[in-house]
Amino acid sequence: MSVHVQNNKVTTQTIRQKVEAGEKVTVLTAYDFTLARLVDEAGIDILLVGDSASNIVCGNQDTLPITVDEMIFLTKGVVRAAQHAMVLIDMPFGSYQISKEEALRNAVRMLKESGCDAVKLEGGEEILPTVKHMLQAGIPVCAHLGLTPQSVNQFGGYSLRAKEEAEAEKLLNDAVLMAKAGCFAIVLEKIPAALAQRVTKAVEPYHCATIGIGAGNQTSGQVLVLHDMLGLNGGFKPKFLRYFANLAEVVKGAVQNYAQAVKDSSFPNKNEQY
Ligand code: KIV
Repeated sequence: MSVHVQNNKVTTQTIRQKVEAGEKVTVLTAYDFTLARLVDEAGIDILLVGDSASNIVCGNQDTLPITVDEMIFLTKGVVRAAQHAMVLIDMPFGSYQISKEEALRNAVRMLKESGCDAVKLEGGEEILPTVKHMLQAGIPVCAHLGLTPQSVNQFGGYSLRAKEEAEAEKLLNDAVLMAKAGCFAIVLEKIPAALAQRVTKAVEPYHCATIGIGAGNQTSGQVLVLHDMLGLNGGFKPKFLRYFANLAEVVKGAVQNYAQAVKDSSFPNKNEQY
């Protein structure tokens, strides 16, 4: 039996019901109206306007440079496209670490100006007061644990997290704190599959979904960066990533065909002119 989506719009309630029913939650990133509309029409539950837009859209080396204003700009287009999916926005680096008051101010701005439905923040116990402050204000929060790309300079790279018992125990504890506080979901990025399974079981009593990326298939759902899974991202192929298409070749082929047709004057033809 699949979970009924009221008014055809996925809400935090839908996600909690899916967790209870043992139904997988599907998440993909989206950064613009055109692709977001396709992803929404395909029936994905959550469109994540990830701060990976910093890499994918802006060409930066990491997620750190993207700003609140830039995230709001991108999210507006995604919100206009989303007839069915929930729109989740990443709070960018620096927008929630300074104080819980400033974090709430930024989150309120992001919801009001973009029209998105929920926010995602990276971190565990250290940001719990901030997460609670947002939840008390009525803002749905998704946590993000494991490989948290905004801390890349502290980690010294993007390698697997929580391999050692101490880090694994902290992650498990952080997840339970976030779920108990009322987070509707937790992204688990690049951690051992067995740990992700333990976390998923531990947060289940709080009807909190775990959304894995590089965390095995025993989580409540999965997320991938859209451009990565479409094979658009120039040979980027970590172990956890599966290409569900090879659009880079399709796009390059189409562009080459267009250029050739312009050069040999076969485009436009008689039917393509006025
Ligand atoms: O920014 C992003 O795209 C993300 C996903 C990788 C989970 O946070």
